[in-house]
Amino acid sequence: MANPWLGVSLADYEGHMNSAEVQQLGALSDLFAEALAFRYPESVAILGIAGGNGLDHIDASVTKRVVGLDVNPRYLEAARQRYSRLSGLELYCADLAKTVVHLPPVQLVHAALVFEHAGVGLCLESALSLVAPGGVLSAVVQLPSELEEPVSPSRFHSMRNLKPDFSLIDRAWLCNTLAGRGFRRAYQARRSLPAGKGFWMGIFAQV
Ligand SMILES: C[S@@+](CC[C@H](N)C(=O)[O-])C[C@H]1O[C@@H](n2cnc3c(N)ncnc32)[C@H](O)[C@@H]1O
Repeated sequence: MANPWLGVSLADYEGHMNSAEVQQLGALSDLFAEALAFRYPESVAILGIAGGNGLDHIDASVTKRVVGLDVNPRYLEAARQRYSRLSGLELYCADLAKTVVHLPPVQLVHAALVFEHAGVGLCLESALSLVAPGGVLSAVVQLPSELEEPVSPSRFHSMRNLKPDFSLIDRAWLCNTLAGRGFRRAYQARRSLPAGKGFWMGIFAQV
């Protein structure tokens, strides 16, 4: 079965994420800026890069290599056009639920709101395999809400098709799993969102 993200236009995705009832695009961009400020990486990989949300925060004089991965080639094309100023931009189309990517590793791997969609099997393996020695992994997960379902309702109806494949990630499980793989939590941050939702970001460093 085709990945449901292939049926969501970037305009719908970004319209939904920017809508008054969701307000997640800016929060994700801010958290990426925070992850960059934690490490000032020379190289970064973003899993589920969509249209490049947050790439504005990259200082090209510091971060020379920017790897973006996504299942949707149209999102990657938009990111390529928007961020042509980043000379070290490498974009790869891959289904992270089905394949482990093998690329030269980076100092910061950023996985924001992607494990919920791609799962924590092969996608987590890709994330870990991309961390260079001395590098860090930042993971942003959505916190549960008692008020509303995980994919918020909005006027962008195509977003509803993502619901069956969305699973919240238990952050205690994530921390324990990463500890078992030799990564300790070095930093954490939270962002509150509408309807009692929130994001949590953990930055994990190799022990
Ligand atoms: C919620 S968006 C990510 C937001 C983005 N990381 C940010 O910080 O703004 C999820 C992204 O992951 C991508 N995605 C979902 N499932 C995927 C999969 N199996 N493999 C690769 N990318 C996937 C989607 O196409 C989408 O661009």
